[in-house]
Amino acid sequence: MDQSEKRLIFTAEDIARQVQRLASQISADYHGKEVVLIGVLKGAFIFLADLVRQLSIPAQLDFVRLASYGTATESSGKIRITTDVELDLEGRDVLIVEDIVDSGLTTVFLREHLLAKNPRSLRMCVLLDKRERRSVSIPLDYVGFHLDKGFVIGYGLDCNEAHRQLPGIYELIV
Ligand code: IMP
Repeated sequence: MDQSEKRLIFTAEDIARQVQRLASQISADYHGKEVVLIGVLKGAFIFLADLVRQLSIPAQLDFVRLASYGTATESSGKIRITTDVELDLEGRDVLIVEDIVDSGLTTVFLREHLLAKNPRSLRMCVLLDKRERRSVSIPLDYVGFHLDKGFVIGYGLDCNEAHRQLPGIYELIV
């Protein structure tokens, strides 16, 4: 891919500012508690790593991995868990950390899955809230950036597994 096929929309500095803002808000909201951050692999791995290092409250980490049947740029809504969390979430304050919410179907599925593990609370932190294809209403408690549309890559987000390592976030130009 050459430079003409992608357009920078958020620089590494823009992202760092939003991550710091989210971490401050989360640290204040969970003051006096220990939060369990559940990173959604693979896309959230960089976001989670940056976010957790800015928190001023105790935190534990776990991961889930989901597979959805669909194309490179659109999920079909048929989702399954390929790697589940290992920590016991019963009675815990759980915060899902996702890279991007698009249709919202992945998040709805994951929320139901985690709620069945009886956490004390379950909230959602997402770096990018992309609304164009939202087909379900979901509570997003912490949001880094809002996007109207477009397919984005970088900072953990991929297109066919490529470009996750880009430090900024780019829109793919098709
Ligand atoms: P949803 O179920 O439609 O909300 O899709 C959520 C998942 O689709 C995300 O966790 C990403 O893996 C993927 N996804 C949606 N939009 C993008 C994008 O713009 N870039 C990269 N991945 C995306």
